Formats: sequence, C-alpha cells, structure tokens
Amino acid sequence: MSTDIVWHNTSVNKKDYRAKNGQHSGVIWLTGLSGSGKSTIANLVNKKLFDAAVHSYILDGDNIRHGLNAGLGFRAADRTENIRRIGEVAKLFADSGAIVLTAFISPYQSDRDHVREILQPDEFLEVHVDCPLAACERRDPKGLYKKARNGDIKEFTGIDSPYEVPESPELILHSNEFSESACANQIINLLKEKRWI
Ligand code: PPS
Repeated sequence: MSTDIVWHNTSVNKKDYRAKNGQHSGVIWLTGLSGSGKSTIANLVNKKLFDAAVHSYILDGDNIRHGLNAGLGFRAADRTENIRRIGEVAKLFADSGAIVLTAFISPYQSDRDHVREILQPDEFLEVHVDCPLAACERRDPKGLYKKARNGDIKEFTGIDSPYEVPESPELILHSNEFSESACANQIINLLKEKRWI
C-alpha cells in the first residue's frame, strides 16, 4: 500500500449507527463443506432477523463469486484472497451497524483467523456447519461432488482440496442431525446470549 494514503475519519461512526439502529453489529461467519447447509441456514437466520426488524445482510459464496470475486478460482491463493476481500467487505457492513451473515467454505483456519483479527473481539462469531463429507456427497445439490469424483472439477474441497476443521468456533451446528430450522434457532439463541439482539 502507498505511504501517501491517509485514513479519513467519518463524522458518523459505528457507535452512531448502532445507537440509531438500537442493535449490536458484527459478523456471523458460517464455514463448512459444500452442501453442508451454510447458505440455507444463513438465509433462515437472516429472515428471522429481518422479521424482527434487525438490520442484517448475507454475503454468500456463489453470489460473491459472480461479482466482486468473479476473477478468483479455487487454488489455495485464490481462496485466501476470496476470504480476505469478503472479510473486508463484512467489516464495512459491521461498521455500518449491520449484522452480516457470511456463507463461504473458507477452508483455511489462518484465513478465518485473519478475518477475526481485523474485527473487534465482540464482532466475530465463527459457526462451523459440521456435516460429514459422506452426507454432503450424498446430498450433492449441485452435482459438483459427482463431477469432482469423475475428475471434471479439480481441487474440490473435501475431495482433492483440504478443509481445516475450525479449532475453536463459537458454535458447531450438526446439520446432518438437526433440521436447518433448528440450526438457525441455535444461531439466534447464540445472538441473544451474546446480546447482539
Ligand atoms: S472458498 O473455498 O471459501 O473460497 O469457496 P466459496 O467462495 O465459498 O465458494 C464455494 C462454492 O463454489 C462452488 N465450487 C466449489 N467449491 C469448492 N471447491 C471447488 N473446486 C469448487 N468449484 C465450484 C460450490 O458451489 C460452492 O458452493 P457451496 O454453497 O459451498 O456448495
């Protein structure tokens, strides 16, 4: 970064936005294998927050890769850059007073830790959507596991690309044992416990 770039403070800040919205803001970071249920659960939570007049927003893997991160692939360096950018965007949303739900595989612990580090300690909740690979592969909602097994997709997470299980997430959701709705309720309960809502 150039040394000629100087940070500009705005006259309305995060504290003001939170006071106006009457709520906390921060990032709920869902991580898990493809097909584990991240997007569905994030959508259910977002709907519940919306209905309760809580200002929230979703950043979702497939959608962000259509736009902001369209140029990135699935090599390790691209995934790291993907998560770095999303972390920065999520931070901006948190600064604007919103609760952000992110739904990305985010397979590397160091990338998830980096996002945690750029936020305040009370602004990041790591949620592991823990569904065994075999169950995700059985679901295979987009037919991607089949393609990966056939060698038509390279570096597919869980097949020939690693997924690092979160070391100390704030919440683990067993999405193959409980319904998506029950998992969404667990997140809502966590938000109440942490006094985010
Ligand atoms: S990452 O690892 O966090 O950068 O990935 P993410 O941005 O979440 O994108 C995951 C979605 O991209 C599709 N897809 C792949 N996933 C994993 N590995 C490979 N090689 C791959 N190629 C395409 C897939 O639909 C993922 O969506 P989800 O919702 O996770 O199933």
